[in-house]
Amino acid sequence: MPVVSIREITAARRLDNVRYAIRDLAVLADQLVQQGKKILYLNVGDPNIYDFQTPAHLVEAVATAMRDNKNGYAPSPGIPQAVEAIRSEAVRKGITSVQDVFVTSGASEAVDACITALVNPGENILTLRPDYPLYSAVLCKLGIEINTYDLNEEDGWQPDLVDLENKITPKTRAIVLINPNNPTGYLYSLKEMEALKNICIKHNLYLFSDEAYREFCYTGEYVSAMHLDGVKENVVMLDTISKRYSACGARIGALVTKNKSIYDAALKFAQARLSPGMVEQIAGAAAVCFSRAVGIYA
Ligand SMILES: Cc1ncc(COP(=O)(O)O)c(C=O)c1O
Repeated sequence: MPVVSIREITAARRLDNVRYAIRDLAVLADQLVQQGKKILYLNVGDPNIYDFQTPAHLVEAVATAMRDNKNGYAPSPGIPQAVEAIRSEAVRKGITSVQDVFVTSGASEAVDACITALVNPGENILTLRPDYPLYSAVLCKLGIEINTYDLNEEDGWQPDLVDLENKITPKTRAIVLINPNNPTGYLYSLKEMEALKNICIKHNLYLFSDEAYREFCYTGEYVSAMHLDGVKENVVMLDTISKRYSACGARIGALVTKNKSIYDAALKFAQARLSPGMVEQIAGAAAVCFSRAVGIYA
């Protein structure tokens, strides 16, 4: 038999610079645990490891769905009750005329979907420094330049909007906003949101608004990017049940937009990955509907 030599296996170059700081850090932390050190894991926002429980009605929805054999492929944009629950939740929060919503595997996949669908290699998007590492990781994977604007520690981590505007180039397509911010906890004021809006209008940019922590505001008034007048076509909101419902493992998030063209572009991404989990979507719909019924977010 001829000896077939197998080419050395190397990872594709597109992954060369992909780093996910909070996961990379966890590997180092685990090594220290093995050496007997006690570690407090502040790198990850997972309510369940800090003894918060996934709400019982959500667990029940999963058990019932499994028993009822509702465990097939789901439509790519999400099952109708999950889409409808997210849409009506938005309306209840005063976010009207949402054109389109699709369900994703966590906000993480929503970020991947909108960057993949809307930004080309050679273009750039403005992300924050310090960064929640999801953005830099997705950009590296897609070969898209990372262009950062500063959050100023001396000013309590306010966004430096002068720096932001200075960094805009003819190739800039979008600004990332994380509000409330992770990792700094900063909550954007209405004035800052209006300023961001005006920059988006002036330079014709998308605003990717990550609102994963929007129910975690202890002081100040939270303003959703979806509430801003005049940038209806520009905003893509990225949302998740991970934090609000102590359900990071369910991997259910959403991409919400008032712009049909953005939806259509991102839907191609959604179709290529078939669908998020069916059972988890049923749980996600149950979570959102239940909150409405008991008026948690009224
Ligand atoms: C700001 C921000 N966006 C997105 C995510 C990812 O959320 P998901 O679990 O829905 O993928 C996280 C998770 O910690 C986050 O902090």
